[in-house]
Amino acid sequence: MKFLDTYVKKFISDEKYNDVFLKANKIQNDTLNKTCLGKDMMGWFDLETNIEQLKEHAKKINDSSDVVLVIGIGGSYLGALASIKFLRPSNEKKVFFLGFSLDPEYFENIFEICNNKNVHVIVISKSGNTIEIKATLQIVLDYMKKKYGLHLKDKFTIVSGYSGFLRSFAKENEWKIFDIPENVGGRYSVLTNVGLLPIIVSGADASKIIEGALYSKKQFENIKSDSYRYAIVRNILFELNFNVELFCSFSHRLGAFVEWIKQLFAESEGKNGKGIFPSSSLFSTDLHSIGQFVQEGNKILFETILVCKNNKKDIILKNKSEPILKFDSLNEINNKILNAVSRAHNEGGVPVNIIEFDEYSEFELGNLLFFFETSCWISSNLFGVDPSNQPGVQKYKSILN
Ligand code: PA5
Repeated sequence: MKFLDTYVKKFISDEKYNDVFLKANKIQNDTLNKTCLGKDMMGWFDLETNIEQLKEHAKKINDSSDVVLVIGIGGSYLGALASIKFLRPSNEKKVFFLGFSLDPEYFENIFEICNNKNVHVIVISKSGNTIEIKATLQIVLDYMKKKYGLHLKDKFTIVSGYSGFLRSFAKENEWKIFDIPENVGGRYSVLTNVGLLPIIVSGADASKIIEGALYSKKQFENIKSDSYRYAIVRNILFELNFNVELFCSFSHRLGAFVEWIKQLFAESEGKNGKGIFPSSSLFSTDLHSIGQFVQEGNKILFETILVCKNNKKDIILKNKSEPILKFDSLNEINNKILNAVSRAHNEGGVPVNIIEFDEYSEFELGNLLFFFETSCWISSNLFGVDPSNQPGVQKYKSILN
């Protein structure tokens, strides 16, 4: 993958870049030595999950179920959802997520899917106390009891921190438990048991995802690499009053991925009155709506467009019966749109970052996930905020409790 700065360069002076580069350099050292802001929550950076153990358990789950319900919210589900949608492995109809919304109708729809199918439930919560998760568990447990009676020992798997309601409840019921290490926060947990168990269950190859992440980690040793360049550019754009980052893509495969990025940046950076507000856009849909605002409206935003270079899925146009357009294929049109939009928005005074990756593969997924995690870590440190906590999210939880 590559960070392309063609359409952002004109906004960034060499002097400013060098100034922020020096700060990023220090943060790199602090990150590698674990003395940076968030230093006690850097378990994600080590990439030490026991994949074999997860694979073994995922096999048991898959052998005994047609449908797997994954209960989680925030960092406890977004990474897995993003990864599964990104890869769209063959058994994509197997894993369904619950708990991120308490819309009663959604439960009904999911239970309808489960009728006449064998179901396994994975519940993921680091605190083990999140209200949405407890409510969902209560409803799903009732459904499972009606379906299977009281013999549920092998029907539930828990991924949880070391304390909290969920862990004790799972122990009482003798459900299988996978740990979430104390030093891994929710939105940095996709490459741990939290994200990898559902990802493996969906049929993806987690070893290749970790290979991609390790590749990205190696790049991180080079201060001139893309994760720093991207973090530095964002920081300068913020100082130039571009306070919103619009993450754009051309594919539904990236819809959930962008939601994961939004959570990562919003919860990591958005504190002490600082941070860039992350938003998202799907092309071409939004080019015919908010594209107007981007081109000519209030200059509060910059774009970061995610582009898959070799999308294996394509539709060839030139073999169609009517020669309505002279383009060869849909991917060719999307490329032309990318170039036209980047140029138009740039000429309209909007900085455009492009993050290009090779293909929708496990390796590229791991590479991208770790790239965004490290970039966000550097960026939050550049803002002088601790990337690992989310006191603002805790606030509503404590009022609710
Ligand atoms: O990033 C985070 O830490 C949060 O978004 C949490 O993942 C989210 O609030 C869910 O918390 P828990 O895993 O404790 O249920």
